[in-house]
Amino acid sequence: AEALAAERLLSGIRVLISAGPTREPIDPVRFIGNRSSGKMGYALAAAARNAGAEVTLVSGPVALDAPAGVETVRVETAAEMHAAVMARTGGADIYIGTAAVADYTPGRVADTKIKKHGEQLELTLIRTPDILRSVAALADRPFVVGFAAETGEVETYARAKLEAKGADMVAANEVGSGAPGGFERDENALFVCWRGGECHLPLASKTEIARRLIRLIADRYYAENT
Ligand code: CTP
Ligand code: CA
Repeated sequence: AEALAAERLLSGIRVLISAGPTREPIDPVRFIGNRSSGKMGYALAAAARNAGAEVTLVSGPVALDAPAGVETVRVETAAEMHAAVMARTGGADIYIGTAAVADYTPGRVADTKIKKHGEQLELTLIRTPDILRSVAALADRPFVVGFAAETGEVETYARAKLEAKGADMVAANEVGSGAPGGFERDENALFVCWRGGECHLPLASKTEIARRLIRLIADRYYAENT
């Protein structure tokens, strides 16, 4: 009975998800990247699809196959991800930003490979557009869920991000040495907060965490849209 209920939880709902890292080119052969595997976003896309949603996944470069039944759009840079997401927010009911978007990108991309010269090399980096904030700022916006990769005071930072970005919900997990889940891991534990409450999703496989988070998102989405 539970499986049947989960199957219908998001039927008719359009879910847009960003996932993976971005790559910011320095020259034709080099880039600035990060350790995001994309696993959480891909697991959420599959979980939302299993819940009956129509899912679009905008993905940075990852070593994962596109989930069956999910429209997957591949991008590379933060600017490309921003454009791909903004072009698809129109029909979306829920936006989930799991991507580890580069905060800064090289101010200019060298058009030939940078040669090794002195003892130091300086790169000037400029801020990238904040995709989550842009989606949350839309007049006719979807229900917006952000992710926060934090170390230390996770709950405080997650609440601060909820407010700063104007999101409806933020899910945070501790990353870095000693933390139980996060980048490049198959398990995850999340602290999830929204304006009226919060909850802990204890350590579980990313597949299971995704299933629980989709449930929670559906609950909050319907609470605010009925
Ligand atoms: N995010 C985004 N666009 C960016 C940077 C971040 O959409 N240019 C989104 C991420 O996908 C995530 C959320 O914002 O859902 C939080 O990302 P995070 O890196 O934790 O927050 P930042 O605002 O970038 O702050 P900082 O890295 O300084 O903690
Ligand atoms: Ca960031």
